[in-house]
Amino acid sequence: MTNKHYSLLLKQASALVSGEPDFIANAANVASLLYHNLEQVNWVGFYIFRGDELVLGPFSGQPACTRIPVGKGVCGAAFSQQSTLLIDDVHAFPGHIACDAASESEIVVPFSSKEFKGVFDVDSPVQNRFGVDEQRLFESIVALFNEI
Ligand code: SME
Repeated sequence: MTNKHYSLLLKQASALVSGEPDFIANAANVASLLYHNLEQVNWVGFYIFRGDELVLGPFSGQPACTRIPVGKGVCGAAFSQQSTLLIDDVHAFPGHIACDAASESEIVVPFSSKEFKGVFDVDSPVQNRFGVDEQRLFESIVALFNEI
């Protein structure tokens, strides 16, 4: 990772989850770490696949939609496709779910831990906030949960 700030954030996230086997506790800390240390970000959090839909998990930011059907919104689409979705302008994404009216761009990365599957979602109040460096950072963050 070329960006020093992102490289440091990844190390901090790794240290936070190191030695702690509880997914929820780790996800809560990682969401808070990124929310407080990234610029132009208004929501960071996890949706966990429970039953047949995505249910709100640990996050930092404004209160959000509690349930998202698989295939719906950016989160549901990323989960059903099992691939990262990087959305420069959420208003141009068909079916985008506006939890926070301030959100303008968004990146959603599917995760799969030992205990849970779901998506990791980061929203920004500016368009085009996320690019290849952010995608790398968030995919690396999500990989920290593979063995938890
Ligand atoms: N915008 C998301 C919903 C989740 S919130 O942004 C926290 C979506 O379209 O799936």
